[in-house]
Amino acid sequence: MTTNPPDFQRWTAAQQTRIEAQLQALLPSAELAPQRLHAAMRYAVLGGGKRVRPLLAFAAGEISAADPARVAIAGAAVEMIHAYSLVHDDLPCMDDDVLRRGKPTCHVEYDEATALLVGDALQSLAFQLLAEYRLADDPAVQLEMVKLLAAASGSRGMAGGQAIDLAATGKTLTLPELEFMHIHKTGAIIRAATLLGVRCGSVLDKKEFERLDHFAKCIGLAFQVVDDVLDTEASTATLGKTAGKDAQHNKPTYVSVLGVAESKKLAGELRADALAALDVFGARALRLRELADFIVLRKF
Ligand code: IPE
Ligand code: IPE
Ligand code: MG
Ligand code: MG
Ligand code: MG
Repeated sequence: MTTNPPDFQRWTAAQQTRIEAQLQALLPSAELAPQRLHAAMRYAVLGGGKRVRPLLAFAAGEISAADPARVAIAGAAVEMIHAYSLVHDDLPCMDDDVLRRGKPTCHVEYDEATALLVGDALQSLAFQLLAEYRLADDPAVQLEMVKLLAAASGSRGMAGGQAIDLAATGKTLTLPELEFMHIHKTGAIIRAATLLGVRCGSVLDKKEFERLDHFAKCIGLAFQVVDDVLDTEASTATLGKTAGKDAQHNKPTYVSVLGVAESKKLAGELRADALAALDVFGARALRLRELADFIVLRKF
């Protein structure tokens, strides 16, 4: 994370270590039956990825003085949903990718049926965690958290965005259509990660919650705009996934609709909008500001 100061790099490394340990502990052991499915779940989740969603949860938790032990559970649940979405995204019936996080994709390393079940089981496990662990003092708030992640993952969230993505392949989209697709397929889970993190702590007043929500929406869209740019500009080695796949598959992206320069400009505008939404939080939003910078300026 070269674009950010050393203190942010240390904080990030510490949270990444924490979430890795949490995921290790929460995923079923590969020695437990069915061993192959459990091994494949662990393969898909552990030892890779930037962990941006849990990082957002931890950073948002700092705004509401949330107990990091609670945020770690919520962050792990979101990361499991994300990992499941990647396993399914890479399947031959979707993006047909062979490389993810620098390793063969789950269906290549195991098989398609196993990859399908990995996604199913990770999604169930994520919701089991939200139901099993005490994450908010008020049970009504915790129920809201379950609903939040469910809505973000489902047909009006990530899964819906993926459906739009598949239907749009080979077609041209208008800018509003493209924005709608990106907000759903990627923005929804990023937004949920941020809001779940803050919900683990003290309750924000309505205005504060709305500002945080605006931040999360801007940064969620910016994340996919940058992902589109990196697909054309970065190398397979840096990304740990096959570069240039969007153009090869005729996917409508911000790059195909706006071009690289305009896409970068838009990401910068979204970053400014996101940062402005954090003004109300002062020093409590330090890590969220740094994460916004990382998300927009990242090279991988
Ligand atoms: C990739 O997400 C898929 C998108 C939603 C754009 P990430 O870039 O967060 O992937 P990992 O988790 O770091 O591998
Ligand atoms: C994936 O978008 C979004 C989800 C997995 C929900 P992409 O298809 O652009 O992600 P990459 O580029 O394969 O990581
Ligand atoms: Mg895709
Ligand atoms: Mg893909
Ligand atoms: Mg992509």
